[in-house]
Amino acid sequence: MRIDVLTIFPGIFEGPLRESLLGKAVAGGLVDVRVHDIRDRATDRHRQVDDEPFGGGPGMVMKPEPIFAAVEALEPPPGAGQPRVLLLSPAGRRMDQSLVRELAGERWLVLVCGRYEGVDERVVEGLPAEEVSIGDYVLSGGEVPALVVLEAVTRLVPGVVGREDSLHRESFEDGVLDHPHYTRPAEFRGMGVPDVLRSGDHAAVERWRREAALEKTRRNRPDLLGPDDAPEG
Ligand code: ADE
Repeated sequence: MRIDVLTIFPGIFEGPLRESLLGKAVAGGLVDVRVHDIRDRATDRHRQVDDEPFGGGPGMVMKPEPIFAAVEALEPPPGAGQPRVLLLSPAGRRMDQSLVRELAGERWLVLVCGRYEGVDERVVEGLPAEEVSIGDYVLSGGEVPALVVLEAVTRLVPGVVGREDSLHRESFEDGVLDHPHYTRPAEFRGMGVPDVLRSGDHAAVERWRREAALEKTRRNRPDLLGPDDAPEG
């Protein structure tokens, strides 16, 4: 899988692309991530990538030409057609695990990081680009959201997460949050571990995990549940 990232702050990506699971996936060639500086595609003397908004108002808007030029300069991966282009923006469709799964099935993704007050709308219209938000809050730019997309998508690329079955046990995979986890010590500061988890009875452990996952979902994310998931009795 190939992911090209277009940004005016390429340095933000250096640490995260080197460390942890994402770093290993990149180093191991499971994903080919390429970060490009949009400013390299600016054509004027000052390498300007933003300008004042038509219609007035505060802040600056990212100009369309350097972004189009940066996308058009990308070298397509062998055998790939058109890339799926995402513009990270708080005004986008909110990403969830089902969108992540869909993106993980793509051969070629392009992530465009917005900054300032916004990005010229012709980027959405003309590239075209799908606007994607990582949640209902506003960050200073699309770089951290692009890292969120990179990490969420990369984990689903075959071979990146060691035990594939752990992917199916996570939050959201079956519409509920993940169950609570415990490890040694069995007693910590007066807090124990549910007896069933130490019983060796695998069926009972599974039942407990299902019920505990539902309980956590009811408490933290009732919006994920339907009427059938109400507590019994
Ligand atoms: N840029 C700024 N805030 C954002 C958000 N919540 N999601 C995606 N891109 C953003």
